[in-house]
Amino acid sequence: MAVLLPGGAGFIGSHTAVELLNAGEEIVIIDNFSNSKSQVLEAIRKITGKDFKFYEMNYMDREKLEKVFKENEINAVMNFAGYKAVGESVKKPIEYYTNNVSGALVLLDVMKKYNCKKFIFSSSATVYGDPETIPITEECKTGETTNPYGTSKLFIEQILKDLYKSDNTWDICILRYFNPIGAHESGLIGEEPQGVPNNLMPYIVRVANGTLKELSVFGNDYNTPDGTGVRDYIHVVDLAKGHVKALEKLNKEGKGLYIYNLGTGKGYSVLDMVKAFEKATGKKVPYKIAPRRVGDIATCYADPKKAKEELGWVAEKTLEDMCLDSWNYIEH
Ligand code: UD1
Repeated sequence: MAVLLPGGAGFIGSHTAVELLNAGEEIVIIDNFSNSKSQVLEAIRKITGKDFKFYEMNYMDREKLEKVFKENEINAVMNFAGYKAVGESVKKPIEYYTNNVSGALVLLDVMKKYNCKKFIFSSSATVYGDPETIPITEECKTGETTNPYGTSKLFIEQILKDLYKSDNTWDICILRYFNPIGAHESGLIGEEPQGVPNNLMPYIVRVANGTLKELSVFGNDYNTPDGTGVRDYIHVVDLAKGHVKALEKLNKEGKGLYIYNLGTGKGYSVLDMVKAFEKATGKKVPYKIAPRRVGDIATCYADPKKAKEELGWVAEKTLEDMCLDSWNYIEH
């Protein structure tokens, strides 16, 4: 019995692979390295001392996917093969909807054919749009996403709800990630954005090591304590552990469609992050105040109570850990 991880060589997939192997699960990874590197597979083996099967392929390739299901006893799937760059999704909506939505449909259809009905989905806090209330609970309204990436997450959530309605023998868990940062403490796996990073922490580390000149802080006139945007940053290893807990729940209880926020419940501003990073690493992060970025909201952080009560999961790593591990990875 194995857990299938499409996109298992990527940032969140690779950390989840490590936590699953550490928890004694068997895994099978498929990846086409469109946004990851093949060395990640060796790194996962090195960190865990465990082996796993790997297929280099696009997860949308139905024929090859069927072969994976024929050759392995897959009992659950966690899908990390989505495209995730917000700005790129605005420029390439067809590619994003094809890879994320059509890809998920191929995967679910093949799962159904092979009677594998446990699915854990990587969703995002972006499905809440500009949230109605803070902290954000799972009951908050979803919709009004601001880009095709976010909308693809919303569409897949709806597809999963409809699927469960049609056949309640599926066990589905939707995990809404807040802002994952950090890296494995070994420094062997981490986030590898292509080109100039769009997200805050990958940008900060590149300013700190001199690759980029200075950080642009996008807006200091938001209705927040220091005027800069507030987010719920979560260590990727905590996030990965949330997937293991979700799988445990589906294995033990099953038969349901569950939705959980995976966040820390704490909000930090852009300037809080700069200060925390400088304090943790002793590196300077020069910054300038720049105009607001289109599509950004003022404040977004989770109410993580439901995941604590129902999964027994809480984020344990500190902001200092997140900063140090992000830095350690890039310096490694
Ligand atoms: C975005 C996505 C989210 C996705 C997340 C992680 C949306 C609206 N947001 O979140 O779905 O899960 O990335 O991939 O779809 N900032 C700066 N300067 C920078 C970069 C960022 O000031 O150079 C600020 C932003 O304005 C924001 C905060 O830092 O206030 C975090 O930004 P970012 O890391 O890009 O994440 P989000 O926009 O929150």
